[in-house]
Amino acid sequence: MALEKSLIEKIRKITSKAALAASKFKGLNDKIGADKAAVDIMRAELNELDMDGRVVIGEGELDEAPMLYIGEKLGTKKGAVIDIAVDPVEGTNFVSKNLPGGISVLAIAEKNNLFHAPETYMEKIAVGKNIKNGTVDLDFPLEKNLKNLADASNKQLSDLTVCLLNRKRHKKIIDTLDNFKINKKLISDGDVSGALYVTDDKFAVDMFIGTGGGPEGVLAASALDAANCFFQGRFIFNEDKYIKRAREMGIKDLNKKYDLNEIISGDSIFSATGITDGDLVKGIELDGKEYLSETLVAHKNSGTFEVISKKEEII
Ligand code: FBP
Repeated sequence: MALEKSLIEKIRKITSKAALAASKFKGLNDKIGADKAAVDIMRAELNELDMDGRVVIGEGELDEAPMLYIGEKLGTKKGAVIDIAVDPVEGTNFVSKNLPGGISVLAIAEKNNLFHAPETYMEKIAVGKNIKNGTVDLDFPLEKNLKNLADASNKQLSDLTVCLLNRKRHKKIIDTLDNFKINKKLISDGDVSGALYVTDDKFAVDMFIGTGGGPEGVLAASALDAANCFFQGRFIFNEDKYIKRAREMGIKDLNKKYDLNEIISGDSIFSATGITDGDLVKGIELDGKEYLSETLVAHKNSGTFEVISKKEEII
């Protein structure tokens, strides 16, 4: 069954209000304040929706409230049973320092169609819609992935651009890219956006790779699914508490590589509104009693994948 198309606008409104709330904390060096402002709005607005919602990808567990925690029930309980993934402020550093790339993100799917995962790291790989399945794979050596991708894109290796988080743990990847003289787009944070750069040639990114947040991986997967792109992820359960939690959540094979449709299946809606200006979407702009927001919305069933700009009243 499909999600009602009217939900796209409802979800867009929620991330735009959360982004507006977080934008008041731009450059205030207060990551928690920004997150809390966005969380409060998201929770209140999600509770207004006619759905029987449950957070499956959130910010920690019940004891870490007031964040939107995994298992939290949301909505009026009148409509469909919905799985919800939230990242009220993705790029808390960006917002607290008023740097480009802070976004507010939300995705929904029908019950059991969105992967339930603890908040741990995930190894990820994504490429664009024109690249055939099987061209790249998390299990292939990086060199093979790069050569296959270059062949599939009719490019020289040195014409490829690979996006990844600038982290010490990626030294081997970075060294390999340097050996092949492959252009890098090294991002300091925000790998939901990083993964989404493969969705459009205008971002000039051929591949996204590396280890980042698992929740961010699931959120990106939902938008990549609507954009018909390729994504794989493998959760990294390297601490006892995560292993225990993963088992409680029913994950049997802790080393499993997940294809996109094992992370998100069926219909889904994704919405990401800019808090600060970024490549993906512009940030919130205030204009008297109104605010201008830019939101990337994706809806699998209707094939929607577009940026919506709206001027709305600040209530
Ligand atoms: P926050 O907004 O929650 O701080 O996350 C930012 C982020 O860069 C994510 O985009 C990314 O998945 C994760 O942190 C990477 O984690 P780490 O900074 O530990 O490498």
